[in-house]
Amino acid sequence: MLDISLPESLDAFWMPFTANRQFKANPRLMASAKDMHYTTVDGRQVLDGTAGLWCVNAGHCRDRIVEAIHQQAATLDFSPTFQMGHPGPFALADRLAKMLPGDLDHVFFANSGSEAVDTALKIALAYHRVRGEASRTRLIGRERGYHGVGFGGVSVGGIAPNRKFFGSLLPGVDHLPHTHHLEQNAFSKGQPTWGAHLADELERIVTLHDPSTIAAVIVEPVAGSTGVLIPPVGYLEKLRAICDKYGILLIFDEVITGFGRLGKSFAVEYFGVMPDLVCVAKGITNASVPMGAVFARSYLYDAFMQGQENAIELFHGYTYSGHPLACAAAMATLDIYEEEQLFDRAAQLAPYWEEAVHSLKGLPHVIDVRNLGLVAGIELATIPGQPGVRAYNALVRCFEQGLLIRTAGDIIALSPPLILEKHHIDQMVEHLNRVLKQLD
Ligand SMILES: Cc1ncc(COP(=O)(O)O)c(C=O)c1O
Repeated sequence: MLDISLPESLDAFWMPFTANRQFKANPRLMASAKDMHYTTVDGRQVLDGTAGLWCVNAGHCRDRIVEAIHQQAATLDFSPTFQMGHPGPFALADRLAKMLPGDLDHVFFANSGSEAVDTALKIALAYHRVRGEASRTRLIGRERGYHGVGFGGVSVGGIAPNRKFFGSLLPGVDHLPHTHHLEQNAFSKGQPTWGAHLADELERIVTLHDPSTIAAVIVEPVAGSTGVLIPPVGYLEKLRAICDKYGILLIFDEVITGFGRLGKSFAVEYFGVMPDLVCVAKGITNASVPMGAVFARSYLYDAFMQGQENAIELFHGYTYSGHPLACAAAMATLDIYEEEQLFDRAAQLAPYWEEAVHSLKGLPHVIDVRNLGLVAGIELATIPGQPGVRAYNALVRCFEQGLLIRTAGDIIALSPPLILEKHHIDQMVEHLNRVLKQLD
């Protein structure tokens, strides 16, 4: 039996991205989870409107994944992957390469989205150097982007509180403007029609610095953590075209959009835009064991596979790159995605989802609703001088009344497990409808 008893004091655990004192005064604690629901330590059922943290795409505690982890832990708990190996990451990489479109055929494993992002940035820098273009060192991110919490990811990220405490970060980083414009795009269903021209800012940055100094551009195809920003029609295509024009690598951070969230395997497939590198994490193992990964196109990998065969080609890696438990969990997760056709399921539910979330238009405080695939953002008017308070109050009330939501500033983000049924969507909207009317 698992011991889930709480210590007398909650003080020792320094919680991530949390108002520690506020939380510890009124904790929200989960004890178990199955499929679409959590059960709290006081025995209440909470409908999971956020797939945990955008990650439990196949629903909670799936038997097949549990069994795979269990068996792997009892068979081979760990093996190094530095100058050594075990079948797990080879089998998983081979399978993932077949899932990804085009020649995104090589996989570097990490343990989180943050590590995947830093890995991709390093591969981009090293790629230019091994090809003899060592002057390409500049990285370009985007305002409001979230790429995890490593120094690389924070540097290219564009969320002020994540950056301002941590010094000067990486040098030589620029940011594109974000694509969020309520006055143009409020209550858009799916991709907004206004805003493709915002990608032209990349031309301005390139002109300022000269293409010979720029290594890569990184964006989330759909920005999640900043509060669900859907790319305008044509925007990603424009970024790709400008990168191609100047020999700049394009990195898609698909930590949230990967593994079915948009109703296709990856945003690469959904938007039909091919980046050079793709970062994933979260849904790769259904969040059961930490894992991140970077997919690289063949010419990138091939550029490193030159010179002496006994020389290490890339001086980068983690003790747990390709960890046996994570690989076993990922293989079982992919089995479920395939057998239950969960990506198609997400696509089929998306129109119902869209109608349901847009029914919240007109409720108190709601100034925007936006959606794509099985993601939605509901933006609330900010209480003057108290940013984030209204949405936080919504989170607390929703949790108390049986629904888990996520908030970013005054935006409510929804991203349920892809196994959900229409009646779960109805329940989510009912909860929100009630809670929005209760808010000050
Ligand atoms: C787009 C994106 N990149 C990177 C990350 C960081 O992932 P992790 O928290 O696993 O380090 C996240 C996390 O939400 C994310 O949404």
